[in-house]
Amino acid sequence: MKIGNLETKSNYFLPAIAGYSDVAMRVLCYRYGAGLCFTEMVSAKGLCYGSENTKALLVTDDREDIKAVQLFGREPEFIARAIKHEALKEFDIIDFNFGCPVPKIVGNGEGSAMMKEPDLVKKVIETAVEASEGRVITAKIRAGFNKDSVNAVEVACAIEEGGASMVTVHGRTRDMFYTGKADLNIIKKVKDSVKIPVVGNGDVVDKESASRMFEVTGCDGIAIARGALGRPYVFAELRDESSAVQVLELLKEQALMLAKVMPERIAVNNMKKHIAFYMKGIRNGKDVKLKAFQAKNLDDILSLSLIE
Ligand SMILES: Cc1cc2nc3c(=O)[nH]c(=O)nc-3n(C[C@H](O)[C@H](O)[C@H](O)COP(=O)(O)O)c2cc1C
Repeated sequence: MKIGNLETKSNYFLPAIAGYSDVAMRVLCYRYGAGLCFTEMVSAKGLCYGSENTKALLVTDDREDIKAVQLFGREPEFIARAIKHEALKEFDIIDFNFGCPVPKIVGNGEGSAMMKEPDLVKKVIETAVEASEGRVITAKIRAGFNKDSVNAVEVACAIEEGGASMVTVHGRTRDMFYTGKADLNIIKKVKDSVKIPVVGNGDVVDKESASRMFEVTGCDGIAIARGALGRPYVFAELRDESSAVQVLELLKEQALMLAKVMPERIAVNNMKKHIAFYMKGIRNGKDVKLKAFQAKNLDDILSLSLIE
């Protein structure tokens, strides 16, 4: 799929997933055939103020085919400064989050709160494009802020007018958070209204749900978030590639990668969240999960076994 001057190898993407889409998960998803993987969301302001937490989210790996970061923020002056920041120089794509439903973010007028301000969305995108020095600018939105203001088409048009090269649409309103079902019709309406590529998002977990997303919406690509947690190989399954996977080996590889780029204690804690997903539906997985929760160091994770 073409996004600005970039070409992705497949049109199945890993969107930003705070707490999960770390560099190790992205490397594995690319290996299994994801076309594009985004970092966790990063505060534009935090970046400008040199927050250590923010820097940790910006670690990349040369095995990432395309390096894509997601920012959130509402003040154009911070957006411009963040885009020019040294730490973002190596990213090929800078995505903007207009969909985060978390109360703290929305309370600051950021994330999905910006669905209520299409003019500001356009301004943020324009500012980003102007400061981008040729890097590709994209955005991710929801269906609307609530059921009485389903305005994804208006916001997507503002994003296109602002000069972005792609829009991802999660077919839920902010007040749905992650409940109910994503509305595929609103994604179709966006697809019918803009010329830039549209990525459909919401509830895709397998070939059947992916086919439905493509058929109903006509979207150009699909973003899979929860369906890829503990299942980076979902990208191989979606493309009919065989994926004989040893999940335990995979999660240990992920743990080793993480421990190389962050303090061991943090890598181990982050892995515990991933392992809970890796072990879903796996025989004896519950025991492994309980053992993992007690892990104190990397060796404890590396010695996990399914056979008791
Ligand atoms: C734990 C969690 C963290 C998320 N973090 C982000 C984020 O940082 N940025 C973003 O745009 N969306 C974020 N999302 C939303 C997902 O990218 C996606 O839009 C949503 O989960 C719907 O897709 P799915 O049905 O494939 O999971 C998050 C979702 C979850 C469950």
